[in-house]
Amino acid sequence: MALAQRKDLLGLRDMSREEIEMILQTAVPMKDIIKRDIKKVPTLRGKALVTVFYEPSTRTRTSFEIAGKYLSADTVNLAVSTSSVQKGESLRDTIKTIEVMGFDVIVMRHAMSGTPHYVARNTDMRVINAGDGANEHPTQALLDLYTIKEKKGTLEGLAVTIVGDILHSRVARSNIYGLSKFGCDIRVVGPSTLMAPEIEKLGVKCYYDLEKAVAGADVVNILRIQKERQHSGLFPTLDEYANLYMIKKDKLKKAKEDVLILHPGPMNRGVEISSEIADGTQALINEQVTNGVAVRMALLFLMMGGTRDESTN
Ligand code: CP
Repeated sequence: MALAQRKDLLGLRDMSREEIEMILQTAVPMKDIIKRDIKKVPTLRGKALVTVFYEPSTRTRTSFEIAGKYLSADTVNLAVSTSSVQKGESLRDTIKTIEVMGFDVIVMRHAMSGTPHYVARNTDMRVINAGDGANEHPTQALLDLYTIKEKKGTLEGLAVTIVGDILHSRVARSNIYGLSKFGCDIRVVGPSTLMAPEIEKLGVKCYYDLEKAVAGADVVNILRIQKERQHSGLFPTLDEYANLYMIKKDKLKKAKEDVLILHPGPMNRGVEISSEIADGTQALINEQVTNGVAVRMALLFLMMGGTRDESTN
């Protein structure tokens, strides 16, 4: 299915390899726009985009907003914490209110899995999922794939280790769906209490020993430990977690020499990643953020009917 024919982007599970490749290819000229002095093309002039985040965000919300602006769309953020949601307005009424203002696209994040899917069924606006519960975070995975491909030249057959809170991670799920379409050797590793049951059914190898999981890895993608869950008995202490699973230099001895380090942010330094690694030469954490703007520009452009050849005029 061409992206222009797809009303919504809700996840990578049902997205084809060809659609993913088209987004990644289109993001290349979009990244050039970000580097120009005048970061503006008229491509989406007359289109309107609204971001509606029921959960906090720095990277995803801001990068969607600036991506829309670089493409000349009108962009608005609905600040949920100061909106009429606080007066009890229902999700359905909030979405309808936004829709009748004339927005073409809504980018939304919600704590409950499936919320963007519900919204997509109940609005004519295009819906982009910016993270729903523990389900999917498709644009994070797209920018991760872009970042890996940019450095390695290919995604085909790479060994990718995803480390940490697999159970609660929408980033892990979307990465698994995306990477598996490119024949990657996907490993997941973390404490048994943070391992999603039946994750192996998604075609990944499951490890509990970090050094074994990173042996021969081309990429290590480190998940945020959700400190807010520390009191739910999922691991004894942050120190204990860090001892076993924090990515630091000596834990990477068996990975490929040129292993790439990814983290979606925000990072807990000293818990899931050491500062030495986060600030080291193999870490691509800041590049991921830049690439997130390019990938989101590509996505907005393709979903609104553009072809790759007219993307940078
Ligand atoms: N990676 C990510 O989704 O970051 P934000 O929560 O800051 O958007």
